[in-house]
Amino acid sequence: MASRISSFLRCILYIYSFSALLCLHAHEATHTVQVSWLIPSTTCNASTKGPKGETSLTVIHKYGPCFQSNKEQVQVLNHTEILLQDQSRVNSIHSMFSKNSDGNKLRESQATTIPAKSGVSIGFGNYIVTVGLGTPKTDQTLAFDTGSDLTWAQCKPCAVQCYKQVDPIFDPSKSTSYTNISCPTPLCAQLTSARGSQQPCSNSKCLYGVHYGDNSSTKGYFSKERLTITSDVVDNFVFGCGQDNKGLFNGIAGLLGLGRGQVSLVQQAAQKYSQFFSYCLPSTTSSTGYLTLGQGNEISSSLKFTPMLTLSQRSFYGLNLIGISVGGQKLSIPTSVFSIAGTIIDSGTVITRLPPTAYSALRTKFREMMRNYPMISSSSSTFDTCYDLSKSRSVSIPRISFFFGGDVSVDLGEVGILYVLRQTEACLAFAGNRDPGNITIFGNEQQKRLEVVYDVAGERIGFRPGGCS
Ligand SMILES: *[C@@H]1O[C@H](CO)[C@@H](O)[C@H](O)[C@H]1NC(C)=O
Ligand SMILES: *[C@@H]1O[C@H](CO)[C@@H](O)[C@H](O)[C@H]1NC(C)=O
Ligand SMILES: *[C@@H]1O[C@H](CO)[C@@H](O)[C@H](O)[C@H]1NC(C)=O
Ligand SMILES: *[C@@H]1O[C@H](CO)[C@@H](O)[C@H](O)[C@H]1NC(C)=O
Ligand SMILES: *[C@@H]1O[C@H](CO)[C@@H](O)[C@H](O)[C@H]1NC(C)=O
Repeated sequence: MASRISSFLRCILYIYSFSALLCLHAHEATHTVQVSWLIPSTTCNASTKGPKGETSLTVIHKYGPCFQSNKEQVQVLNHTEILLQDQSRVNSIHSMFSKNSDGNKLRESQATTIPAKSGVSIGFGNYIVTVGLGTPKTDQTLAFDTGSDLTWAQCKPCAVQCYKQVDPIFDPSKSTSYTNISCPTPLCAQLTSARGSQQPCSNSKCLYGVHYGDNSSTKGYFSKERLTITSDVVDNFVFGCGQDNKGLFNGIAGLLGLGRGQVSLVQQAAQKYSQFFSYCLPSTTSSTGYLTLGQGNEISSSLKFTPMLTLSQRSFYGLNLIGISVGGQKLSIPTSVFSIAGTIIDSGTVITRLPPTAYSALRTKFREMMRNYPMISSSSSTFDTCYDLSKSRSVSIPRISFFFGGDVSVDLGEVGILYVLRQTEACLAFAGNRDPGNITIFGNEQQKRLEVVYDVAGERIGFRPGGCS
């Protein structure tokens, strides 16, 4: 308390001596939070509402208490599992972008067994929304993913197999708006590889298939159906009706693709929503955020926009990351370190992956500022800077900001800096890439509480702190 009062007095003095800026800096070097506040609650606190007058879906965490309508089918939060899946997603993204195109090789070798261009995919994220499928509509809980284009859901009769899900499995025979896509047709050709491989057909019905890095997969009919988002209707929405589904989906019915490619919801509903969407990921696994489609009435003046870049893998949203500050001090990292491979923003990757030299500069400064807390070795191979906070009531977390092209700086806030596995293990929630040539990934842990706006037609991405609770 005494030190807080004295720093307050110092601030007054600084302001008095017209050094208000210095005062702000001293004040803003860290966030001081209660340690108990960093531990997620086991009860759902669904307080956030999306922006008024727009089509907003509630976003929840797939391992949190807000998604437990049927506890037996839903696994509890397991950080080991989350971090392993995250590494497998990052490896898939890195190979897709890698110059020696391992990704392409992988996709071709899969093509013999799985008849779709989507081939190998990157796994899916941890955030879920509920949409309506069919007529009459049935609720389906889907993971949303800015790194995937194709939407799919498990479908009856589950001709080969379905895993257990929380919602009743979608039954196309009970819907009056369902249609199979036949083949060969231009629509079916959207799924086949650019190299002109044959359209995946069975009895003149178009097939799709996606294989995930962790051996999860889905295959079935490429179909059209009515999609309902709150009260909005998207007719003839093209999606995968999964007849053979297996993997670690934790009771979720499927995936909602928000990537940049042709079959994504963003492109299919371009007329309705003008290729515009935004989300805010909740601060903890026990609170809620939102996913909003369309622009609504006005764009908040506190949103800061940076150019959206297009990269070699065109489904991803590219950013121009140029610098990082820790504790209000800009790290000395040459911008070329970031431009070698470029940066994507991804709703599905958990931990932000930085170029090795950028990560090591961040870590050095972070460790220096955290030297009052006991460091421990990590139980996860993702992290190398972890602290035991069990002896502390509060913790002063160094502030971290990212700088983007267009003179945009984004304060990442207090929630995305430490990844708290348990009170005795709180880790710097960033990781270094293996190779300087691997792409930088702005992950979802660091996006929490930010309103992130994707203006695809305007080719810009906007950020606003404090978008949700
Ligand atoms: C968490 O996941 C890991 C890796 O899959 C597994 O080995 C471990 O048993 C799980 N822990 C719990 C408590 O379920
Ligand atoms: C990037 O990482 C992946 C695996 O994570 C690796 O296969 C690849 O060779 C790396 N390098 C480049 C330049 O992409
Ligand atoms: C779609 O194709 C499946 C498999 O052949 C068939 O059972 C189903 O009746 C078809 N549905 C419609 C609406 O044509
Ligand atoms: C996926 O399955 C293949 C073939 O069964 C196996 O060799 C591989 O180790 C599996 N990968 C994972 C991540 O389980
Ligand atoms: C629920 O969230 C609101 C908004 O962030 C907060 O004010 C309130 O204290 C929370 N309630 C509980 C029980 O955590």
